[in-house]
Amino acid sequence: MLSDSIPNLPEFNDAALDKAFAALEADAREAAAALAGEAAVEAFRLEWLGRKQGRLNEVSGIWLKAAPPEAKKALGVRFNALKTIVEGLLETALGGGPSDDALRAEAIDVTLPGSQRLIGGEHPITRTMNEIVSVFAALGYSVGVGPEVETDFYNFESMNFPPGHPARDTQDTLVVANQDRKTLRDRLLLRTHTSPVQMRTMEQQPPPVRIVIPGKVHRNDAADATHSPIFHQVEGLCVDTNITFSHLKGTLDHAMKALFGSSVKTRFFPSFFPFTEPSADVQISCIFCGGKGCRKCKQSGWIELLGCGMVDPAVFAFAAEKQPAYDPKRISGFAFGMGVERIAMMKYGISEIGSLFAGDMRFLNQFA
Ligand code: PHE
Repeated sequence: MLSDSIPNLPEFNDAALDKAFAALEADAREAAAALAGEAAVEAFRLEWLGRKQGRLNEVSGIWLKAAPPEAKKALGVRFNALKTIVEGLLETALGGGPSDDALRAEAIDVTLPGSQRLIGGEHPITRTMNEIVSVFAALGYSVGVGPEVETDFYNFESMNFPPGHPARDTQDTLVVANQDRKTLRDRLLLRTHTSPVQMRTMEQQPPPVRIVIPGKVHRNDAADATHSPIFHQVEGLCVDTNITFSHLKGTLDHAMKALFGSSVKTRFFPSFFPFTEPSADVQISCIFCGGKGCRKCKQSGWIELLGCGMVDPAVFAFAAEKQPAYDPKRISGFAFGMGVERIAMMKYGISEIGSLFAGDMRFLNQFA
């Protein structure tokens, strides 16, 4: 086949190939050097690299096809070299890359400050809750959780608040509507304490048990400087053979010293909870005045901090329905429950419980 854009190639030895390719290269360079304007550059591209009629396409189509097998490799090498040269010429003709303006528009000013993302911090309630939990974790307690929407059975009945018992009035709460078809024990309410998780835990595992249960609770309490209808507790439960009130006192005395400092003293006052017998309120020596008496402790030198007691046999009887090993003749245990907000407020000197829930960054940043 003859072509008018590439010369006929009569021989395929190295010298002939070199000469033919050198002529083409000289042609290309000459044409490229004379290019002016976009249209001319495009014409150059089509003339040399065009898919159908480009000269390089013809070289491969005509010369390569005509070449005897032993010359194909030598021809191919020269063809590739020429193609690279022509492509380079085209690139240079196109301006050798993006314009200065384009580069400037794209440039990054490495001296600008980076965009900062705020890193969240632990909320003081979470922090206090974790701190309480870790004091007990160090004593070998594990951590449990339970549902915030709880049944009447777990929140009240199994904790020895029988239906209609006046002690229920001390823990009034929101109940889920339209549950009339359910029996009382299955009706749902917002839990008033973390104590129902005592029962859930005992139903799941035989004694011994050592567990702390952090969580959110709800009560129909009017909000004031120290009360909120939503707050947090950390519950504790220890059940084993021969657990006594001394173990309870020693454990809580240690925990209060770990939380508030080793000079803090504790004392236990008789109290009442349906699920513990005997029950006690725990007071710590005032951390603000060291026990001398001040405004914070109402001049008494003591601050009431948590409730506790020995697990009532009636509670073990409910647990024994699922786990017979909770036989009050063989095992005993203690339980305690503390309010997280109250402890956080004392530790950090917070006077309004509401500031813990307002989401004001000026307040929260102090804990970040
Ligand atoms: N559940 C009690 C309350 O919320 C606290 C408590 C827990 C008391 C465990 C004794 C034992 O008031």
